[in-house]
Amino acid sequence: MTRTPVNVTVTGAAGQIGYALLFRIASGQLLGPDVPVRLRLLEIPQAVKAAEGTAMELDDCAFPLLDGIDITDDAKTAFDGVNVALLVGARPRTKGMERGDLLEANGGIFKPQGEAINAGAADDVRVLVVGNPANTNALIAQRHAPDVPAERFTAMTRLDHNRALSQLAKKLGVSVTDIKKLTIWGNHSATQYPDLFHAEVNGRNAAEAVGDQAWLENEFIPTVAKRGAAIIEARGASSAASAANAAIDHVHDWVNGTAEGDWVSMAVPSDGSYGVPEGLISSFPVTVRDGKYSIVQGLEIDEFSRARIDASVAELVEERDAVQALGLI
Ligand code: NAD
Ligand code: LMR
Repeated sequence: MTRTPVNVTVTGAAGQIGYALLFRIASGQLLGPDVPVRLRLLEIPQAVKAAEGTAMELDDCAFPLLDGIDITDDAKTAFDGVNVALLVGARPRTKGMERGDLLEANGGIFKPQGEAINAGAADDVRVLVVGNPANTNALIAQRHAPDVPAERFTAMTRLDHNRALSQLAKKLGVSVTDIKKLTIWGNHSATQYPDLFHAEVNGRNAAEAVGDQAWLENEFIPTVAKRGAAIIEARGASSAASAANAAIDHVHDWVNGTAEGDWVSMAVPSDGSYGVPEGLISSFPVTVRDGKYSIVQGLEIDEFSRARIDASVAELVEERDAVQALGLI
C-alpha cells in the first residue's frame, strides 16, 4: 500500500447498520477503490464482543484496502486521529420514553463523542451523524467540538433523498439516473419536505412531469417522509442496509464531489440560507467541489414549499430548544 490509510471510526459498530456498513467501507466503496482504510469500531462495553466477531469476519474477507481494525469502548481512543467519523450508535426510543428522555439519553452519547472528536480528530475530519434524532444529535456533538470547523458536522438525509428518487422513478417509469436536483429539506423525521419543484426528469421539471398535485401531496410526500416507520412496521426493525448505503453515498460524495448539473441532500449547519436559522443542522440541496460542500443558492421557493420547509425547520428549532433547556448544548 502506498497511500497512508484513512482512519474511519464507526460508532455502534455491532448494530444492524454497522453490520451492513463496515464491509462496504473496507471494500473501498466509501472513499474509493485506491484508498486504504483503518477501521476504528466504538461500542458500549456489552457489545464489544459482538464487534470483535464482526472484525473477525472483516479479516476473513481479506480486503486488500483494509489496513487494520481497532475495537474500543473508549471514545477518546476511537476518535484519535479520525478522518471520517460515522456516528451510528444512538439510544433508541423505548416504551414509556418521552421525547425529552430520548434527547437527554442521546445527549449522554453525543456530548462525550463531540468532546473526543474535538480532542483528537485529524484536521480534515468529516463527521456524519446517522443515529436518531440525527440532526439534533449532530448539533450536540458539534457544540462540544468548538475547535473543529462547524461545517464538518453533518447529519444524514441521503436515505430520504434516495427514497424520493426511487418513488419518483417508479411513478414516471424512468430510471433513477434520469432524475436530477431533487432535494430533501429540514429534519430527518416525518416533517421533512421532499421537493420535486426544483427537480428535473430528463431535463424537464419533475413536478410538471408528474402533473398530479394530489399524488405529490397525498402520496409522494407522506410515503417518503414516513418510509422509516413503514420499514419498521414491515421488517420489525428499522432500515439498516439502505441506511448504510445512504451513509456510503453521503461520505463518498462529500469526499469525491457531486456530479456536474446535479446536487444531493445533506443536513448541514445553516448559514441562514432560505430563512433557516443560522447554526441549525437542516437538510439542504448541496454540491461538493474539492471536498467542500456548498448550499445551492438562488432557488425560488413558492408558498407550498415554504410552508413545508418552515414546518420542518420549526421542529428542528423545538429540538434545539429542548436540548438547550436540558443543558446539553
Ligand atoms: P442498533 O440498535 O442495531 O445498533 C446500535 C448500536 O449502537 C448498538 O450495537 C449499541 O450497542 C450501540 N451503541 C449505543 N450507544 C453507544 C455509544 N454510546 N457508543 C457506541 N455505540 C453505542 O441500531 P441500528 O439499526 O444500527 O440504528 C442505529 C441508529 O441509526 C438508530 O438511532 C436509528 O434510528 C438510526 N437510523 C437513522 C437513519 C437515517 O436515515 N438518519 C436511518 C436508519 C436508522
Ligand atoms: C429511517 O428513516 O429508516 C429511520 O430513521 C427510522 C428510525 O426511526 O430508525
